[in-house]
Amino acid sequence: MKNFLNISDTSIQDLTGILEQAKMMKNARIGLPKGACDEGQPLSQHIVALVFEKPSTRTRTSFDVGVRQLGGQPMLLSGTEMQLGQGETISDTARVLSRYVDLIMLRTFESQTLYEMAKHSTVPVINGLTDYNHPCQIMCDIFTIFENKKHLDNLKIVYVGDGNNIVNSWLVMASILPMHFVCVCPSGYEPDNELMDKVQSSNISTFELSHNPSESVIGADIIYTDVWASMGQKNESKSREKIFLEYQVNSAMMSKTNKNTLLMHCLPAERGRETTDNVMESKNSIVFQQAENRMHIQNAIMLKLFDKGSL
Ligand code: CP
Ligand code: NVA
Repeated sequence: MKNFLNISDTSIQDLTGILEQAKMMKNARIGLPKGACDEGQPLSQHIVALVFEKPSTRTRTSFDVGVRQLGGQPMLLSGTEMQLGQGETISDTARVLSRYVDLIMLRTFESQTLYEMAKHSTVPVINGLTDYNHPCQIMCDIFTIFENKKHLDNLKIVYVGDGNNIVNSWLVMASILPMHFVCVCPSGYEPDNELMDKVQSSNISTFELSHNPSESVIGADIIYTDVWASMGQKNESKSREKIFLEYQVNSAMMSKTNKNTLLMHCLPAERGRETTDNVMESKNSIVFQQAENRMHIQNAIMLKLFDKGSL
């Protein structure tokens, strides 16, 4: 595994290996202070550049802390404060960073920027979110579901909201691992067409696209939601409120499932829009467990890229 850009580039063996590795690493940290290093300090002598062209709380902190726990040194870089933001090309940036650091994590807008970074970098590149996808998040989500449900098959996972980078990544995951995946979104806000075709033709999972939240959430084991306007679309937040109103994940929606349904959200949440306080704070909400797991899964991904994992 040279880079971690898309889940679709990752073999099923690597994918399951990363999940197992993360489980082992999470267990090994039980009871340790956050700043304690993992045994063996597998990334000692490694420097990791964390480059952000968009805001972040979880990705930024989980990679920063994760690299330190693995014994490495993180270097946080904001795109706007780099020459990148002044017009230096991605290819030059990639070649320069590769001379200083051992790994680059990039959060950016267009996928093309990420691919350009990976093409010109001589060190591994990790996708920390683009407008198109968020593979670290979805690996974490699957890991969190395994922790709670032990399996995926026969689970009905209903994504309610905007057809954005998160649901695109879910579609890729559903093309690899079997599940019953439903995307409920307003008409005109569907996820990527090619990815919907891909999940249909892969015949791995059952996939449904729906515009009827009340019907689609019935029998859901998991309801997953995300902001109605992603980073880069925040000027549409107000106008989207009306369009997405019936897609709010609130207690009324949760009670329609007729099941003990878990709530997932990649965070940050805009409480009062895509979800409500009482649902976020309910005992069925696993959003903070999910947030913690970003770090464990990413630590396992980094070990895989350096071929230092035990699996
Ligand atoms: N879920 C996630 O990627 O959060 P941040 O935008 O805070 O990194
Ligand atoms: N869809 C959201 C995810 C944030 C983690 C965004 O791109 O803003």
